[in-house]
Amino acid sequence: MKQKIALIGFGTVAQGFCEILLNKKKELKKNYNYEYEIVAINDIKYGTVFNPQGLNIKKVLEDVRTNNKFTKNLVDWDSIKTIKKSNANVICELAYTNLKNGQPAINHCKTALELKKHVVTSNKGPAVFAYKKLSALANNNGVKFLIEGTVMSGTPVLNLVRGPLAGNKIFSAKGILNGTTNFILTRMEEGMSYQDALAEAQKLGYAEADPTNDVEGFDARAKVTILANVLMGANLHFNDVECEGITKITLSDIEEAKRQNSRWKLIASVELKNGKIIASIKPQLIPLTHPLAGVTGSTNAITFTTDLLGDVTVIGKGAGKVETGFAILSDLLEINDSKK
Ligand code: HSE
Repeated sequence: MKQKIALIGFGTVAQGFCEILLNKKKELKKNYNYEYEIVAINDIKYGTVFNPQGLNIKKVLEDVRTNNKFTKNLVDWDSIKTIKKSNANVICELAYTNLKNGQPAINHCKTALELKKHVVTSNKGPAVFAYKKLSALANNNGVKFLIEGTVMSGTPVLNLVRGPLAGNKIFSAKGILNGTTNFILTRMEEGMSYQDALAEAQKLGYAEADPTNDVEGFDARAKVTILANVLMGANLHFNDVECEGITKITLSDIEEAKRQNSRWKLIASVELKNGKIIASIKPQLIPLTHPLAGVTGSTNAITFTTDLLGDVTVIGKGAGKVETGFAILSDLLEINDSKK
């Protein structure tokens, strides 16, 4: 059955996702029997467009690039109305991440799930502040709430543990979970200033809408909270995670690390210790011989310590337009598969 998709939010991730859909339309049909229409898009900046038969995505992308707003198929709907009134059976929540309380994205997800519409999101807000409630609501209503893109963009992490690693107990997860800060630290090592490196990360679409969330460690803090709660059965609140970002690291600290054959990395860690889950985000000096020292640029890495398989490490892109767009596609393909 053709998926009818509504996009809530039309920023970097949503546009990257649409480009993938356009470029791979034939391949997706042929290899995965995947067919879609984007029937509605709501964006706080561009407005709302709707066509129950499917929008012309190429034109919508062009419209936004040329006019900085939607100009055709306009309707007078806000985000909630778009979810309620459009004929979409899948809602992709791709609006900005709010790490204060997860809103309005939590309401978007809740509204969709109550109407028995699947929800796919890369928005960390609902995953951090309401994962258990929203996934219970999805289960009760016979639909899916999938969040692969919230951690390490499209690099499989949550789906890997839920899928191929199912049956393992996860004792700990440790690694680099923020692309922007890892990119900045790499560039600073090459001699670039912190400000220039941050500006480049923003230009490349790695940074959050408010990059404070990256550099102060809040984005990684959100991701570690998600790992703890979704994969380790914890009940951590965002504020329970000890958190320090990279803003105090200077070029001279980086030079000093080089002299010590080491590198600064923003390390995320969550572990089960004496029956308690403890999580933290902090910069650490990593010896060049350590595998995480070789993870540079916007690349992320995570090592899971499991009971049956020992250590399992995943390394891959942690941020980016197409990379996160792919995470959305991978969850949509799972929904499509589950229908067979
Ligand atoms: N700002 C995030 C990062 C994007 O840099 O990792 C992906 O969540």
